[in-house]
Amino acid sequence: MTLLIFLRRKLSLTGTKLGCAEGGCGACTVMVSRFNPHHNQIIHHAVNACLAPLCSLHHCAVTTVEGIGSVASKLHPVQERIAKAHGSQCGFCTPGIVMSMYALLRNSPQPSMQDMEEAFQGNLCRCTGYRPILEGYKTFGASTHSGQQLFDPSEFMPLDPTQEIIFPPELISLGKQPPRSLRFIGERVLWIQPSSLNELLELKAVYPAAKLVVGNTEVGIEMKFKNLLYPVILAPAYIQELSSIQYTENGIEFGASVTLTMLGKKLHEEVNKLPNYRTEVFQAILEQLRWFAGQQIRNVAAIGGNIMTASPISDLNPVFMAAGCKLTLTSKEGKRALQMDDKFFSGYRKTALKPEEILLSIEIPYTKKGQYFSAFKQSTRKEDDIATITCGMNVVFQQGSNIVKDIKLSYGGIAPTTVLATATCNRLIGSFRMYSEEMTLSPSAPGGMVTYRRTLAISLFFKFYLTVQHKLAQMVKPTYHLSVEDVKPNYASAIELFHVDSPTSVQLYQAVPPGQSTDDMVGRPIMHLSALKQATGEAVYCDDIPQYENGLYLALVTSTKAHAYIKSIETDDAMAVPGVVTFVSAKDLPGSNKTGPAVCDETVFADNKVTCIICKKTLLLINDGIRSNVGAIVADTQAHAQTAAKAVKISYEEIQPVIITIQDAITNQSFYQPVRTIEKGDLAKGFHESDNILEGEIHIGGQDHFYLETNCTLAVPQGEDGEMELFVSTQSASKTQALVAKALGVPASHIVCRVKRMGGGFGGKESRSTILSTVVAVAAHKVKRPVRCMLDRDEDMLVSGGRHPFFGRYKVGFKKNGKVMALDVTYYSNVGNSMDLSLSIMERALFHMDNCYNIPHIRGTGYMCKTNLPSNTAFRGFGGPQGMMVSESWISDVALCCGVPAEQVREINLYKQGEYTPFNQCLDQFTIDRCWKECVNISDFHQRKARVELYNKQHRWTKRGLSIVPTKFGISFTAIFLNQAGALVHLYTDGSVLLTHGGTEMGQGLHTKMIQVASKTLGIPTSKIHISETSTNTVPNTSPTAASASSDLNGMAVYNACQTLLQRLDPYKARNPKGSWEDWVKAAYFDRVNLSANGFYRTPDLGYDFETNSGHPFNYFSYGVAVSEVEIDCLTGSHKNLHTSIVMDVGKSLNPALDIGQVEGAFMQGVGLFTLEELRYSPQGYLYTRGPGMYKIPAFGDIPTELKVSLLRDAPNEKAIFSSKAVGEPPLFLAASVFYAIKDAITAARAESGLSGPFRLDSPATPERIRNACEDKFTKLPGTYTPWDVRV
Ligand SMILES: Cc1cc2nc3c(=O)[nH]c(=O)nc-3n(C[C@H](O)[C@H](O)[C@H](O)COP(=O)(O)OP(=O)(O)OC[C@H]3O[C@@H](n4cnc5c(N)ncnc54)[C@H](O)[C@@H]3O)c2cc1C
Ligand code: FES
Ligand code: FES
Repeated sequence: MTLLIFLRRKLSLTGTKLGCAEGGCGACTVMVSRFNPHHNQIIHHAVNACLAPLCSLHHCAVTTVEGIGSVASKLHPVQERIAKAHGSQCGFCTPGIVMSMYALLRNSPQPSMQDMEEAFQGNLCRCTGYRPILEGYKTFGASTHSGQQLFDPSEFMPLDPTQEIIFPPELISLGKQPPRSLRFIGERVLWIQPSSLNELLELKAVYPAAKLVVGNTEVGIEMKFKNLLYPVILAPAYIQELSSIQYTENGIEFGASVTLTMLGKKLHEEVNKLPNYRTEVFQAILEQLRWFAGQQIRNVAAIGGNIMTASPISDLNPVFMAAGCKLTLTSKEGKRALQMDDKFFSGYRKTALKPEEILLSIEIPYTKKGQYFSAFKQSTRKEDDIATITCGMNVVFQQGSNIVKDIKLSYGGIAPTTVLATATCNRLIGSFRMYSEEMTLSPSAPGGMVTYRRTLAISLFFKFYLTVQHKLAQMVKPTYHLSVEDVKPNYASAIELFHVDSPTSVQLYQAVPPGQSTDDMVGRPIMHLSALKQATGEAVYCDDIPQYENGLYLALVTSTKAHAYIKSIETDDAMAVPGVVTFVSAKDLPGSNKTGPAVCDETVFADNKVTCIICKKTLLLINDGIRSNVGAIVADTQAHAQTAAKAVKISYEEIQPVIITIQDAITNQSFYQPVRTIEKGDLAKGFHESDNILEGEIHIGGQDHFYLETNCTLAVPQGEDGEMELFVSTQSASKTQALVAKALGVPASHIVCRVKRMGGGFGGKESRSTILSTVVAVAAHKVKRPVRCMLDRDEDMLVSGGRHPFFGRYKVGFKKNGKVMALDVTYYSNVGNSMDLSLSIMERALFHMDNCYNIPHIRGTGYMCKTNLPSNTAFRGFGGPQGMMVSESWISDVALCCGVPAEQVREINLYKQGEYTPFNQCLDQFTIDRCWKECVNISDFHQRKARVELYNKQHRWTKRGLSIVPTKFGISFTAIFLNQAGALVHLYTDGSVLLTHGGTEMGQGLHTKMIQVASKTLGIPTSKIHISETSTNTVPNTSPTAASASSDLNGMAVYNACQTLLQRLDPYKARNPKGSWEDWVKAAYFDRVNLSANGFYRTPDLGYDFETNSGHPFNYFSYGVAVSEVEIDCLTGSHKNLHTSIVMDVGKSLNPALDIGQVEGAFMQGVGLFTLEELRYSPQGYLYTRGPGMYKIPAFGDIPTELKVSLLRDAPNEKAIFSSKAVGEPPLFLAASVFYAIKDAITAARAESGLSGPFRLDSPATPERIRNACEDKFTKLPGTYTPWDVRV
């Protein structure tokens, strides 16, 4: 059992969250403190509770978020500051971030920015964009923020380290006692913690297959995700020989259990103490450790664990191998020493150790004069990511010469083991050049990216070559009698280590007018009203609801084939798992198996046919003889349900064709209907009038929502009339209610769906959440007991779909100056195996095909590809970003073709006030020109551009790029009936107000804004108003909280309800004008006035007809402009986000703090979409990227070094509540400025190779794509290959 399960299930301490169960998100961070008797010292470490085995915590103190402070008693400064600095939106990541910061402060009460950046390497947040978290926590250090601020640091409680919880003295006395061996006997595993090395070796002889667990960061993952079971585990925690650090003649010997944090600390000390030439290897290890996992992992993971896992992408093994480290192995039979050379790794994850042997220690050598060592790691994301290629490079020169005496190049990521490039090394002795022939990869090498990896291997060697050349040139003459020419100045940046400066930021917004009443909170940057509870872990999410005494857990069983008939399902083994109660299948459905949020084209349980791979886990598959349905297992614990689910055996008969990619769908003409078209003008005329015509294509990859809280439902049967209460993490309470009612065959009035809050939604819980809720409800109905299911991260990523991948093909006609005359564009979206919301998503893509550009003759056509992937769905922007991304691609092509700067082409094509879109909607209240001007100004665009050009002239292997991109986003649901909302307001006789409306809270601060609206309308302080939840029995028939329109719609409904109540109170106010709010409410009550009112709103004048291309699809548009500057490393493809300025028109902001939070959060999500996040599928449709280990959302280190956000001033919007504008989705697309800045930098790199003109760059612009696009002598490698993965 992990510490996390123990905390949440046994102790009901639910502040610590489950985000991934694989050490990749940090939501589960706690502080573990232990006494080290050898150093007589207490050590505090941030640790991932999801990987920490409970058994490993003997004699440790665990501090959780609940332990450091609470709203009810006293907040801790780390909790207060993140909340008040607006660093908590949905709050699901917040306790983990709080605990990382807390652990840092326990060790360093005045941390530097660098300390903080390191401390947060293992924490992810999907909402905030990180900036406000860092701003809040910077206040602990010396650095300060100047200018307008969204919070007041003088309000913060000071940090008083003397007030911290002390380490329990009894644990110190226990720690001083001689260790005793421990045994824990579990259902499936025996855990033994031996007290001495001898005992360990005896046990290893008895159990040669036993695993030695130190950090459990490998074994834990293998058991959870790879279905491996290790019945005996030996934990060498007490064994001093394995934890010791000793100096030897040749270097330092580290015990195998020394953690990576300890290793780093020791090497730092040595590097600071010794001359540089002695510590070349140490410095290289420190460089690898900078990018090794997050701090929570490094705090527990051991050197021995890294070596013995024998992973081909281990970051340390190539260094150890190239350095020729000496290993000491031991067993009952005695010790032996082994050089870590090319024979040590005998195969994939295999080593030269005998089964009864263990690794005792590793000696890391000092280096000598004339010896140079470097290590490189290249990964998709710089922080906390596994390596694409990782290497250690060691060269020794003959004394006083530049003749190579010995060289060792060791690589990870190019073969099934860490390898030594021996042939190259042999040939290099005497000279110093890389032989590309040795860097071949199998055509279908796992991990894919074959061309990139081969190029990288050579490129990294080139970096090493330059590094050594530079060092040789620096050598003083008496040592080296020959002169080595130094690296050319324009090559120098190629040898700089990857480094980003600490981020700085500016936020600009319009303060409320001087006369505004202090009770009127509209327009003020007030904190998210749940932020404090979120920071203390007191905020309740769906899975935090206490378990019912008779409650059960559910796990899903899904298909492992993309397109197949189910021949049989074998559940006997599953049913034999302890604790299993039942399996649920279609025959248990009292109502209909047909379901679907928009079109009923799905089934609750799979039919006899599967149409996509969903996953291996789950339970309850059943075969009723006519149809085979995927089902679910219900058991007493989640672990039992999941074990049983894995035990279900399904046999299939595959059906052809299997359609995975958009290209497959085009080939097979596999499309959903209708095919939508919007056309305006006369295309033939437009092309005729053009000076130039070009054609191009772009593919835009999909995106996983990666809300930190996965989908979760708790269904509680009420025992009579088929009533059921559901607690769900959903954006669509009413849709959940309706679909559950349909499946259970009861009227919707018998089902109540309740939503307190979500740990993020982003569209992912708009429609796909209903499938899980329905399955859970059917199970609860069957067993007549409460049933819950919170999907694991891998399950969630497998089953719930994401943003649609798009492919755009265009033909564009333009004048010589870049003015676009005609555009014919075709969009293809990868919809998956059901329609879901894909039609509206395609329509929105088409509505945004012009972005902000006036194209006189235009036609857009949208095809929805029917594929055998899980259904894709809504995601922030809802097709808009994909639509606009294609526009920016042709704009970029036009600019490159005309040789005109891209910003000039954009500017001359921009719409003007009063012009009409391709769907004939007039652009009134048009502010893009103002946003553009301000953005050019605050970003210092023109000077910046000059600096970029100069930089590029001076640097060959790093290039900078700059781009300015506008956005226009239509506000309203394109399904007209959804543009309605309701609210219900109760006044109680004590004057308190209970507000309910149709929207759900997922972190965006909707409830906070609604309370601000009610407060202003009623004229009372926000403290008197409370929102408890969203529920279908208070406000019925609600629209999903989506389309950015929830503040507009619900705000007006709240306003209307409050107005009704005010009118009812008017007589009492008139009678007692000096009375208080409470007096008026009481007076009305005693006069028998109804103190409850509902409100309703429907957006007027909406409606669009595709047939006639007339009417208004949107109420209004939101506008914004962004400028971004990046730097790319042409040799590795890495990039740095140097600068971003954003100007966003949010009307008259209801709450600038929340709105800036939305702008920054959306922008960073867009940065993920366009530069990082890549869903990777096998050619058979199997999703490889099923967790934070392989799927990289932006981390703290990805935010622009300089970030300026400005909310456009004096831009009231008369079409929404209190002149505000929608903000949730529109800013996301502005991240395209980063993508096109990258493209600009690549253009500069290509120019060095004599390449000019348009080139294709697909999204996301990953290091692989960037490197491959920077064509040069290293990218021209021979050979062809079959891909390991395909682009869907
Ligand atoms: C989120 C995350 C990020 C990661 N990032 C990286 C990364 O960036 N780079 C990287 O290289 N790795 C990474 N890893 C992999 C892993 O953290 C490392 O390999 C780590 O060093 C393993 O150490 P451990 O103590 O946790 O191993 P454990 O899981 O405790 O053990 C791993 C294996 O080593 C064996 N073993 C341990 N000690 C001995 C011994 N003394 N003698 C014989 N066998 C022994 C065990 O039997 C087991 O097979 C990451 C893992 C996670 C979960
Ligand atoms: S839940 Fe532990 S790191 Fe994600
Ligand atoms: S606030 Fe960080 S994930 Fe939502």
